[in-house]
Amino acid sequence: MRSPIIITGAAKRPGESPGIGFATAREAARRGYPVGLLDVSARGLAGAQDALGGDGLNCRTAVADVGDPESVQRAVDVLTAGSPPRAVVNAAALTRTSQSFVPFVSLGPADIDAAVRVNVLGMLNVVRAALPLFLARGGGVVVNLGSIAASYPASGLAVYAMTKAAIGSVTKSLAAEYGSRGIHVQGLAPGAVSTGLFGLVPDHYRRMLVDRSIAGRLAEPEEIAREILAVVERPQPLLAGHMVPLDGGLSPFGVHRPV
Ligand SMILES: NC(=O)c1ccc[n+]([C@@H]2O[C@H](COP(=O)([O-])OP(=O)(O)OC[C@H]3O[C@@H](n4cnc5c(N)ncnc54)[C@H](O)[C@@H]3O)[C@@H](O)[C@H]2O)c1
Repeated sequence: MRSPIIITGAAKRPGESPGIGFATAREAARRGYPVGLLDVSARGLAGAQDALGGDGLNCRTAVADVGDPESVQRAVDVLTAGSPPRAVVNAAALTRTSQSFVPFVSLGPADIDAAVRVNVLGMLNVVRAALPLFLARGGGVVVNLGSIAASYPASGLAVYAMTKAAIGSVTKSLAAEYGSRGIHVQGLAPGAVSTGLFGLVPDHYRRMLVDRSIAGRLAEPEEIAREILAVVERPQPLLAGHMVPLDGGLSPFGVHRPV
């Protein structure tokens, strides 16, 4: 029996396009891995289970708030059920709430707390619950979802970008601390991905992202899922600690297209 892959932020809300977490869970299940889906949305997890079931695929699910260490520990116990995981994929984040694409001045302290609690502390809580299992198993893989927002200036994203920059920093330190014990910690930093989140992004912003990328389109969540699984299945030591951009050549300066 293969070791399970735990994926946070893996809900699938009925009628919405899949997020990166769900797309990763589906791809991993198709490849024959046992998958454990963790999300704060019970309805979204039921939707994910239904969608996978419709494809003849199984999963375990656990409702948990990644910002709550005890609820994360309980969820990881349920999802692993005595079988140490092969990998954890940290995709949970507050992506669609009042923290993004709004003027910084309109954010209250509670908005900022929530973004840090979920996006940053959430990842730490999940890794902290998984590490003893990885150490007992003699290895494992952590994939952290950052964002290109951490590197590029963008109005309305100060808090979100700050949390994603923190993910990059923690990824580097954890990779340094645990790499010698067989645990590969790496991040991926998507550009613009066609998930439900992008339904909320203003049109002009979406157009700008498309125009300024070599790919000339948004990424599909399934493409990001395949890159995540490439890290899980074939971790590259030279990429440990790095946040690898998956942005289709997005450039804040624009792209020089053929004349
Ligand atoms: N979509 C993009 O364009 C894009 C670009 C760059 C980076 N990312 C990153 O990729 C990851 C996935 O993004 P997505 O577009 O699939 O987002 P999404 O909104 O579709 O999925 C995020 C999931 O996290 C869950 N979640 C929120 N708060 C939680 C909590 N407290 N505990 C547990 N789960 C919680 C949500 O319920 C949701 O299912 C995020 O980390 C996001 O920052 C996305």
